[in-house]
Amino acid sequence: MEGQQRSRRVILVPSPFQGHINPMLQLGAILYSKGLCITVVHTQYNSADASGHPHLQFISIPDNLSDDEISSPDKTTLVLILNQKCEIPFRECLTQLMQDQATPGEIACVIYDELSYFCEPAAHDLRLPSVIFRTSNVITFLVRGTMLRLRAEGRIPFSDPMSEELTPEHPPLRIKDMPFSYFAPFEVLFEMINNVRNMRRSLAIIYNTMNCIEESSITKLQQKIQIPVFGIGPIHKVVPTSSSSLLEEDANCMQWLDKQTPNSVIYVSLGSMASTNEKEIAEMAWGLANSKQPFLWVVRPGSIQGSECIEALPEGFKEEVEDRGCIVKWAPQKEVLAHKAVGGFLSHCGWNSTIESICEGVPMLCRPCFGDQKVTARYVSHVWKMGLHLENELDRKELEKSVRMLMTDKEGEEIRERAMKLKVEAQLCITEGGSSYRSLKELVEFIKSF
Ligand code: UDX
Repeated sequence: MEGQQRSRRVILVPSPFQGHINPMLQLGAILYSKGLCITVVHTQYNSADASGHPHLQFISIPDNLSDDEISSPDKTTLVLILNQKCEIPFRECLTQLMQDQATPGEIACVIYDELSYFCEPAAHDLRLPSVIFRTSNVITFLVRGTMLRLRAEGRIPFSDPMSEELTPEHPPLRIKDMPFSYFAPFEVLFEMINNVRNMRRSLAIIYNTMNCIEESSITKLQQKIQIPVFGIGPIHKVVPTSSSSLLEEDANCMQWLDKQTPNSVIYVSLGSMASTNEKEIAEMAWGLANSKQPFLWVVRPGSIQGSECIEALPEGFKEEVEDRGCIVKWAPQKEVLAHKAVGGFLSHCGWNSTIESICEGVPMLCRPCFGDQKVTARYVSHVWKMGLHLENELDRKELEKSVRMLMTDKEGEEIRERAMKLKVEAQLCITEGGSSYRSLKELVEFIKSF
């Protein structure tokens, strides 16, 4: 594409959280590779580092968030606040971009994260088509529809939210796997679900998912809505992209991995938002130590309630695991999962982490915290059967047993085989003729037709 004239521009608006910035910038790199110019409009809060993405133009808008709003653990409320505070700044920014166009019609459309729905009214008023990018899976979207119905019927809140009862519309999901978040008050959660489900006047939806894992959900969704759904994942495998980490990646762990035997290391990370307490950390630490398996553990600053990360690790633990444990604050996760030494992933099942694990054929130990993670964990363990679900209160004995089961037992071997099979299937989806390959081609034609 280099050297050719790029005549159309797409405005991308991520939601300012790590699990949303990564896939949006990956989408930007893909669309750039297809001949489109890209402008990323982002908030000041958690603004992505533009230096790793020289082909994309970055523009910041003021969000006027207070320190209290930023530091609150309730990110659902933060999403609502961001949508209130960003609507006018975004409208001003988009108006300016329209005035500055090299030629009328240069800007083809706005693609916004489903959590950044403040974009749609401005795009509509400026007569620009808009497209929604959903960075999670389709099944969670369908389940949220069921939640809204049950709430309207007065059946939510459930008398027992931890019930093992199967949901009638979405087996094998149980009531306890539904994507609730316990940080936000119920009204706030449902307000957000309503806002996010509202497609407004947007013309299409993009998902970072693929037929090999979600074909029936994609078909179901497509039957429910009138606008096209493009499942184009796994997007991080379509074109190479530089890191968009908000925290500094500790590359030393790669050298540590180089010294480990193939498939021996369990990689542990709970993503960018989930947090835990000191008691759980102690159970996790001793479970890992007692499994005798080497491990690479991301203990993110702020991820342990009420304490700075490393100090919260139990006494004697570091000495015990000195020669077989590596602890970092943030890792180059995609590279870690692709390393031959990594044989398992203890994960919170954020959608990006799950897709990244599938793409490397790494089986998972699922420890979901909230929202879509709970749905994904159930699918990983009971539908795609490429992982084990750690349920109940975290217990060192259970963790030790599960790590062994996944990494060394016969059951783990079968799970690993399925993970390897999914890896091949995911790659086929984006290879010429594959479902995501076709979907992406259609998406690009769709955008260029505006
Ligand atoms: C959030 C929600 O928690 C998740 O459920 C939702 O699907 C997306 O938004 P997050 O918790 O950050 O995301 O998890 P995830 O979706 O897995 O995204 C984390 C990203 O950070 C991944 O792309 C992962 O590769 C990256 N990461 C994580 C690193 O680069 N280094 C790390 O040490 C940990």
